[in-house]
Amino acid sequence: DSVELGSFSHYMQKEIREQPSTIRDACRGRLRPAEATAQFGGLNLSASRLRRIRRVVFAACGTSWHAALVGEYLIERLANLPVEVEYASEFRYRNAPLDDRTLVFVLSQSGETADTLGALREARRRGFPTLAICNVVGSTIAREADGGIYLHAGPEIGVASTKAFSAQVAVLAMLALHLGRLRQLSFPAGMEVLRAIESAPDLIGRILDREPEVIAAAERVAIARSVLFLGRDLHYPVALEGALKLKEISYLHAEGYPTAEMKHGPIALIDPETPSVFVAPRGSLHGKTLGNIEEVRARRGPVIAVGTEGDDSLAGLADHVLSIPDAPEVIQPLLAIVPLQLLAYHVARLRGCDIDKPRNLAKSVTVE
Ligand code: G6P
Repeated sequence: DSVELGSFSHYMQKEIREQPSTIRDACRGRLRPAEATAQFGGLNLSASRLRRIRRVVFAACGTSWHAALVGEYLIERLANLPVEVEYASEFRYRNAPLDDRTLVFVLSQSGETADTLGALREARRRGFPTLAICNVVGSTIAREADGGIYLHAGPEIGVASTKAFSAQVAVLAMLALHLGRLRQLSFPAGMEVLRAIESAPDLIGRILDREPEVIAAAERVAIARSVLFLGRDLHYPVALEGALKLKEISYLHAEGYPTAEMKHGPIALIDPETPSVFVAPRGSLHGKTLGNIEEVRARRGPVIAVGTEGDDSLAGLADHVLSIPDAPEVIQPLLAIVPLQLLAYHVARLRGCDIDKPRNLAKSVTVE
């Protein structure tokens, strides 16, 4: 992808729209239908070594930390392995227990974030080989890691990360599939995941065609003072990332929370001026989420919901539905984040913010 803005108004808009192709690029040559798995050339670890792994630790900052959280849910589901997701800035100074059956990964789009580099160096200093998931080829983290996976998402210029997040999630879905297939995940179950990952770029293309729905919701959000983002299970990290995008570029206060935790605090904030954005595609816990939406409605809180196309139960409850196509749960985070990226973009545009260069933020934080 070129670094020219072309016909786009902002790099963030361009990078959101590039996502079908960046996910295709992240998956290229890595999916192996014959064995219902995914493979990575740069991991530098044998299958027998990976089978001995009993725990995975991810360390990252910002949006990369959110992607790692999606990875936690996916690896638990598909490979039944315990995963811990650490803020790199915390991990590097803690005495986090590691052993030779723990797989340590750092995630960084830029490969230059000081705290993430610090976490990598600390794990390696203690004698634990550390792998990296990076976008920028030849970056410091990529060079110092013992192996890893590149995103191949192309240069990301907008300070608010978008296409790197979805490429990270796609890579983590493939990693979960790879680890799962080395363990108990059956061929048909692996194949279902593989086909789902393959279908994601086209499905994202369909979401991008629905931008007018998002613009209508953005008009509502742009006049709020504070916005709650709620999601559970795989969508909890999506809610965190949706809130972060809005905060970063529109300067609105936004808070991401696990949906059912709402009643332990955030519900006190609900009033007619405080919108709640529910990440609520159809899935195993959908009925429970609908109950939470009703609780917000009962307090006259405006509701925006990311939901599955044709979900009438949701349409009856929400003021705005941002639709995504029906898809297996494992790829729903890849889809559900797209309307939230667009929402942040349009809210920031309506509020006249400097979208590609938000105040006080840097694309890559190379100091502690
Ligand atoms: C900064 C950027 C974020 C990014 C984070 C981690 O805060 O503004 O967009 O997610 O750094 O960056 P990395 O390059 O390590 O993924």
